[in-house]
Amino acid sequence: MPHRRLGRVSPTPAPRDRPRRLRDTPAMRRLVSETRLDPADLVLPIFVREGAAAPLPIASMPGVVQHSLESLPGAVTDAAAAGLGGVMLFGVPEQRDARGSGATDPEGILNVATRVAADAADGALVVQTDLCLDEFTDHGHCGVLDMLGRVDNDATLERYQEMAIVQAASGSQLLGLSGMMDGQVAAVREALDGSGFSNTPILAYSAKYASAFYGPFRDAIESTLEGDRRTYQLDPGNRREGLREALIDIDEGADIVMVKPAGSYLDVLADISAASVVPVWAYQVSGEYAMIEAAAAHGWIDRKRAVIETVRGIRRAGADAVLTYWALELADWIRKGDLA
Ligand code: PBG
Repeated sequence: MPHRRLGRVSPTPAPRDRPRRLRDTPAMRRLVSETRLDPADLVLPIFVREGAAAPLPIASMPGVVQHSLESLPGAVTDAAAAGLGGVMLFGVPEQRDARGSGATDPEGILNVATRVAADAADGALVVQTDLCLDEFTDHGHCGVLDMLGRVDNDATLERYQEMAIVQAASGSQLLGLSGMMDGQVAAVREALDGSGFSNTPILAYSAKYASAFYGPFRDAIESTLEGDRRTYQLDPGNRREGLREALIDIDEGADIVMVKPAGSYLDVLADISAASVVPVWAYQVSGEYAMIEAAAAHGWIDRKRAVIETVRGIRRAGADAVLTYWALELADWIRKGDLA
């Protein structure tokens, strides 16, 4: 039987480029890491519920609670002890109405909580407040409505101006404008400057998308939103518009701009980061938190690695700081050098 000859195999050429050299040992990987995590770049969102006697769990956000006014100081000092950059406060009022009156009442839950938190923080971290009406309106929209039930942009700006002054007077050190009304940064800046708060900075949620990922947040603030918010929040398909919103906000005087949610909008984050002359932050929102928690609870994902990877990805895409519900736990891992 004729012998079947195999073709001669030429020797495998040695690769010229060997990127693996820099991945060979943990020490080398640590040395060449491009994106470091630091507790100072993390902000913890905190919910405070009016009338709560003790912290209340939030069903769709396992591990996150609605704090009571009594448990709030401890949460703030824990955040400071963990080295976090700040906390972002959200109020959950007992009563809601069409105008969101609780938002501008100095005795409203968010304003009381701000005084309590600022006192507890004592300058160790930056106490920030959500400046938006959706927590306080009975219809759940971020603004007041006109006679036809549409969100009235300019009437809402007046409410935001009042809110800004009350929040600054309560001790908020950074106002998070999350309502997506046109002109909100300029309007709030003008109100602050005219009331002796020219040193209170504005964090503009500039590129805030109409997202499914705010779902668990509605649970956290006990809101039942009627209708959708696509007339003011951005269309998830629009990249250029996210950059435009950030540029407008910077022009209006925003001190920091933000992208929200984070994980599905890393391209927008990278665009804004490349164009911005002010710090750029990102908000890893409630649904991003719930997804990983749920998958981990089923044993379908490595929780810790997933948390670290998502926050690292958000930083890598260009966020200088990240709002995340995992801030405390992540700070703990960072401090222990436990990021593998
Ligand atoms: C507006 C606001 C929201 C979030 C932060 N600020 C809710 C929304 O716009 O629906 C969402 C944060 C999250 O989902 O974790 N007050």
